[in-house]
Amino acid sequence: MDAPTEISAATPAGTPASATPDLADPRFWQLPAPARAAAFAELRRRPAPVYFGDRATGRGFHALVRHADVVEASRTPAVFLSGPGVTTPEPARWVRVLFGDSMVNLDDPRHAQLRRIVSRAFTPRLLGRVEEDVHRITTALVDEVERGRPEDFVGAVAAELPFQVICTMMGIPAESRRAILDLVNRTSEDIGVARPLRRRFRVPGRGLAALARMQGIVAGIGRERRRRPAEDLISALVTADVNGRRLTGRELGAFFTLLLVAGVETTRNALAHGLHLLTVNPEQRALLLADLDGRLDGAVDEIVRHASPIIQFRRTVAVDHELGGPGGPLLRAGEKVALYYGSANRDEEAFPDPDAFDITRSPNPHLGYGGGGPHYCLGAHLARQEMTALLRELFTRLPDARSVGAPELVPSSFDHRVRSLRFTF
Ligand code: HEM
Repeated sequence: MDAPTEISAATPAGTPASATPDLADPRFWQLPAPARAAAFAELRRRPAPVYFGDRATGRGFHALVRHADVVEASRTPAVFLSGPGVTTPEPARWVRVLFGDSMVNLDDPRHAQLRRIVSRAFTPRLLGRVEEDVHRITTALVDEVERGRPEDFVGAVAAELPFQVICTMMGIPAESRRAILDLVNRTSEDIGVARPLRRRFRVPGRGLAALARMQGIVAGIGRERRRRPAEDLISALVTADVNGRRLTGRELGAFFTLLLVAGVETTRNALAHGLHLLTVNPEQRALLLADLDGRLDGAVDEIVRHASPIIQFRRTVAVDHELGGPGGPLLRAGEKVALYYGSANRDEEAFPDPDAFDITRSPNPHLGYGGGGPHYCLGAHLARQEMTALLRELFTRLPDARSVGAPELVPSSFDHRVRSLRFTF
């Protein structure tokens, strides 16, 4: 059995090449992308996952960096729990009690119960109805680009599309949307390392106050729809009765917050990375434009693989477990593991020439939406639908659309966030 290597939190990040990088050190996430990619390639070559932090006190995590390991952890939920929290830092107990648990942080049976209720809104049949809305929103956004000639693709297009789609699906009235978007931006600042790096002084409670206000707005709409149901998702969620269960006001607020954080930021970052990847890989762009109908689906999947909008989620080990089967590295009950989707998506064992951006890659078993199992991204179909619709509209009407310069990135250990991306057409 291979004993996990242990890296103390004091190990300097990144360089030199022969030393193991420290994934727990925020400075690691400020390194340029190629240096981080090289560090993950080095970790994938090791015989066992590396433990970052102090294993004796349990304050640290095993880094799962290979495709097969991330799949195993995702699909073995009885061993790899989500309940203790999947984000870093994990939500405080009282926050969860006060604001309600979102489904990413739950295990069965509560997870299955909630997922059964909300997944009714994400079946391909119901998403077929959303398709018209998505088309209307993308058309209006590209109209606006032509008219206003905005400079920043993220603010004008990439962030706007998924936000408008979720609000339309949920039935959020137009007058509440700006306030909600502003509140979302504040809440999500607390995840990953982006905030401590950007700001000298943290303002505890600012994100939570925003969360409380946002959930208040949504719960208010929920009460209204329970009295007078309309043709929207909030009405369906507060009136639907699945095995005697329907969403409470608090669950509705937690679910909407999750949809905004999980569905808006991810899709926005994927779209921004996508436009840039199609700009710096002109031969791939030419291939796509030569056959939009035939190649758009493959391009969207390859964008999600290459960009990996979510870098990692965490699990907690429920019982002692040998990774990969008997004789594999021992993970002890109570320890944390981080599932590095971005690294799994560059695993040489799963993808030939993994660093190349290749829109014709087939098969493309990427883990951008998770490694399978009960928490697999609920919005994967919707995300594909949004990205396909936008790129089709953009390149059909503005075939010269391309990014200008490099994207402005926000260092984070959680997501590949793009703050802004200049573009032209
Ligand atoms: C490119 C866009 C997206 C990416 C890369 C992405 C990625 C992910 C990942 C990695 C997970 C965790 C999977 C796991 O733990 O096994 C997840 C879960 C989730 N995603 Fe997405 N996502 C995207 C878009 C969306 C959209 C558009 C929505 C909804 C509108 C959405 C809703 C959710 C929800 C509700 C969960 C939690 C599911 C559960 O715990 O059962 N996502 N997503």
